[in-house]
Amino acid sequence: KTKVAILISGRGSNMKSLIQAAKDKDYPAEIIGVFSNRADAAGLDFAKDHGIQTAVISHKDFNSREAFCDALDEQLEAWGAEFICLAGYMRIHSNAFAEKWLGKMLNIHPSLLPLFKGLKPQQQALDAGVKVSGASVHEVIPELDAGPIVMQGVVPVLEDDDADRLAARILKIEHQIYPKALAHYLKVQTNTDRSAAADQSLIWPQ
Ligand code: GAR
Repeated sequence: KTKVAILISGRGSNMKSLIQAAKDKDYPAEIIGVFSNRADAAGLDFAKDHGIQTAVISHKDFNSREAFCDALDEQLEAWGAEFICLAGYMRIHSNAFAEKWLGKMLNIHPSLLPLFKGLKPQQQALDAGVKVSGASVHEVIPELDAGPIVMQGVVPVLEDDDADRLAARILKIEHQIYPKALAHYLKVQTNTDRSAAADQSLIWPQ
């Protein structure tokens, strides 16, 4: 199994869905640590309760993005992490960090990328008047929210939606696609199970 570290900044509901999925003996990833840049991230308690080691390093203790990302990288190496899943992690990486983990780091973003990158993507979707939105799991590259897309989940945007209602609808689909996308990505990468990888639809719901 691939040793995966999850990076969070808050609630951690996507982290939970990955931890739950990884309990399956056939799941190709093992969650070996949860990192947060905020000590008050609610998701840390859930990880601890499930016997997963956690670490907190505040970006505020560093005077550059590079120095913070170096400390993060040291922690990941100490854990023996082979792969990273960003799950509501709200820091931008240094280029060096993103390049080092290229092909070994996924993120989930609550829009149908390449639309609505960056902050408040649900409000951006409402402002644009789109009738469908969703979530994207993508590879992380140095440019923000711009890496190759692995899997997307689609939801309707309804007449009386506000950002919170749309965010809640998207979040449900996030929880479904992130574990599937990670498993798919790892299977394709390690090439151990080509038929399973080929069978996986990369649009959700199917
Ligand atoms: C999720 O909607 C995730 O897609 C989004 O933050 C939320 C975190 O929720 N991530 C981003 O916007 C990344 N730029 P969670 O902590 O409950 O998983």
